[in-house]
Amino acid sequence: MAKNKSQFVCQNCGNTSPQWSGKCDSCNEWNTLVEEHQSSGIGANPGKQLRKGSPVKLVSLAGDLDEAPRIASGIAEFDRATGGGFVQGSALLVGGDPGIGKSTLLMQASAALAKKGHRVVYVSGEEAVAQVRLRARRLGAVEADVGLAAETSVENILATLEASEPPALLILDSIQTLWTELADSAPGTVTQVRNSAQAMIRYAKKSGTCVVLVGHVTKEGQIAGPRVVEHMVDAVMYFEGEGGHHYRILRTVKNRFGPTDEIGVFEMSDAGLREVTNPSELFLGERNASSPGAAVFAGMEGTRPVLVEIQALVVQSTLGTPRRAVVGWDNSRLSMVLAVLEAHCGIRLGDYDVYLNVAGGYRIVEPAADLAVAAALVSSLCGVPLPSDAVYFGEVSLSGATRPVAHSIQRLKEAGKLGFNQATAAKSGKNDSKSTPITVHEIKELAELAARIAALKGAIGADVTETG
Ligand code: TYD
Ligand code: MG
Repeated sequence: MAKNKSQFVCQNCGNTSPQWSGKCDSCNEWNTLVEEHQSSGIGANPGKQLRKGSPVKLVSLAGDLDEAPRIASGIAEFDRATGGGFVQGSALLVGGDPGIGKSTLLMQASAALAKKGHRVVYVSGEEAVAQVRLRARRLGAVEADVGLAAETSVENILATLEASEPPALLILDSIQTLWTELADSAPGTVTQVRNSAQAMIRYAKKSGTCVVLVGHVTKEGQIAGPRVVEHMVDAVMYFEGEGGHHYRILRTVKNRFGPTDEIGVFEMSDAGLREVTNPSELFLGERNASSPGAAVFAGMEGTRPVLVEIQALVVQSTLGTPRRAVVGWDNSRLSMVLAVLEAHCGIRLGDYDVYLNVAGGYRIVEPAADLAVAAALVSSLCGVPLPSDAVYFGEVSLSGATRPVAHSIQRLKEAGKLGFNQATAAKSGKNDSKSTPITVHEIKELAELAARIAALKGAIGADVTETG
């Protein structure tokens, strides 16, 4: 018998186990274990791979410093997310749900680069060349000189690339369709995806080409997700968006050559993805400022301020355990704000269902949204709309005190630019308000905010003073 033992590999996290089970022990995903052969993979067959090592040239850490050599794509939102453009010799992973627009985005970036005179190769493992060209025509990119191929074999792709000058940019759409003869599992399995990615990353380092790997996020675990190669690449970006909304966010989660908190915002149109240079206008676009329960949060995404509306609905519950439903924010963070409102502001929400939504399908990750969420909740409970020209930002601590957050000047400036006249923020030692065009109400306690909103109604409502 050959020592070709098989093992079961989780297609979600890559954990291995000697026998099949319905649930992965490591990541707790169901139905993700697939049988793969253990002897497969680079280094698994030393006899075949063995060669004499050759010395490498050591370079001193000191000495002339080069910036990472980059090629800007010219698509400003894309370059913002990557930290300035494609880094030569690096590997970039672009993940996202199927159909979100990854191929569209990368075709646009390829065309932009090719138009600048760089050599670009686009290898599609999912679409035929004719299909890719059809898409390119719709995007107005047919003029661009991009080398196209429909190929899935890593060996064939490498042979093609080695036959000529290395391109500046190589797109591999997608890693799940690639397969290499070094591994004998089926395409799309963890072993194949890892080995194929490894081979392409090695090519990137050797040739100086920037290799972009496209990866589908998979829910069912039938094919390996992009997570299994995240640790191998230099930068990881996820392209996200809500089904019903037409805008998309390119979010950087790992970047060895730049910041990770930047986002690029795009809008999907019938002629491809359009850059959104002022996301606040998009997120506040369909705002109805006269209804209770809506508060505008002055947030930050990396170095860029983003204004977004937070909507709350507080209604009397008919259930034993009231509902708490959150879209676009952290569930446990909402529970915390509710607890602070109850404990320190005398606002009892235990008999109410609470729904919280961030407008436009946007997702907030900053704790600075606490104050805006509290304002929306109190506004909905009291049935009193907040001033239409006000923004809110600040963190709330469990003691009921508010905490100042970073970048307040930028937040205030952005609010001023979009026509807001007042802001409620946590009191900080710095005197930020002086240098901005809008009035800043600085508060120390969350209770001050609740009282201020209740006062808008004329008097504190009966609901609010239940606990006395
Ligand atoms: P695609 O880039 O193929 O997604 P992915 O590669 O992430 O699977 O984009 C698919 C969706 O984008 C498709 O549902 C249609 C839409 N789309 C447009 O709305 N306008 C366009 O110009 C293009 C090319 C696609
Ligand atoms: Mg695609």
